[in-house]
Amino acid sequence: MNRKWRIPFNRPALMGREIEYVQQAIEDGHISGGGSFTEKCQNLLKDSLNAEAVILTTSGTHALEIAALLLDLAPGDEVIMPSFTFVSTANAFALRNARIIFADIRPDTLNIDEEQLPSLLSERTRAVVPVHYGGVACEMDAISELCRVRGITVIEDNAHGLFATYGGRYLGTMGKMAALSFHETKNVTCGEGGALIINDPSLISRAEIIRDKGTDRSRFIRGEVDKYTWVSLGSSYQPSDMLAAYLLAQLEKRLEITRKRSLLWNRYMDGLDDWAVGNRVRLPIVPDGCRHSAHVFYLLMPDKVSRDTLIEKLRRKGILAVFHYQPLHLSGMVKESFECPVTESVASRLVRLPLYFGLDETEQDSVIGEVRNLKL
Ligand SMILES: Cc1ncc(COP(=O)(O)O)c(C=O)c1O
Repeated sequence: MNRKWRIPFNRPALMGREIEYVQQAIEDGHISGGGSFTEKCQNLLKDSLNAEAVILTTSGTHALEIAALLLDLAPGDEVIMPSFTFVSTANAFALRNARIIFADIRPDTLNIDEEQLPSLLSERTRAVVPVHYGGVACEMDAISELCRVRGITVIEDNAHGLFATYGGRYLGTMGKMAALSFHETKNVTCGEGGALIINDPSLISRAEIIRDKGTDRSRFIRGEVDKYTWVSLGSSYQPSDMLAAYLLAQLEKRLEITRKRSLLWNRYMDGLDDWAVGNRVRLPIVPDGCRHSAHVFYLLMPDKVSRDTLIEKLRRKGILAVFHYQPLHLSGMVKESFECPVTESVASRLVRLPLYFGLDETEQDSVIGEVRNLKL
């Protein structure tokens, strides 16, 4: 699909040792889950994020599904999340028969509006799921405090923000659990993959059981039990060690990846700042105290018509720019009504520009030039 575009929206980059490591996994004879590359990725993530535990999963979606299973939700229990997110954030909890309560987003960071949360809480609220949009942190102090005093679990959807920080703490380490995604479009990728960060030690062994088809297989492998059996609900959430091998090669280059993406993100900012001001276009806002992951560079256009015009104009020049989430509260799956005016406005006006490790500066200058040519 990428070949169609002079400048695609995303192009996954090989960072050097992917093929070598995959070959090694094959030669080691361990291509199912839970091999040495899985172990290395988990340890690298745990140590570099300073997390309690990390388990690799087959996707970010599946990490969220494990988190939802760990909540032991009863039908009708409520889970609050932004409407402006990927469908998996909601689906994971809906699969457990939770009632999803959609919050609106802040106009600046496009993250869940923490000031709206108190009005959405009820006796049945079991969890809040902040989504760090574009790898820019949600207001975690306010969210954590609100949930702490009421015994509500915070589960971070950190699909976008690996290695980003909030007040010096890594995103994904502030909630009880957090989901990461290594989908092809993410900063660090293995095609399809994810991880669950577990910051509450009491959940680690149950999380392993859920990941291992509801069995205590991990304990059996560690020699803690002499056979393994069915002990809880679970599924097959363990990625192949070949994927973990690919992922390790990427994780080892995490600083290089972040550096390059940040450079490109800043070049977009510098190249478009004055044009944006003059054309009523809003560029991303990163609050003080947050270091973002340079995952998304978006333009918030004045209206839907100008957004669609820009996408079409870039398309004609061979440049793929794309919009993002459709408001979940307006989807056919949601029967209740929710007030999320910022979400609705943003979803119709947002466009993301190409941003990937291999994007070179000449290509990026061409994107900037084409955007600047748009007369509003
Ligand atoms: C906010 C958010 N959460 C969860 C996911 C799901 O991740 P995955 O594609 O790895 O299942 C995505 C995917 O893009 C996402 O954007």
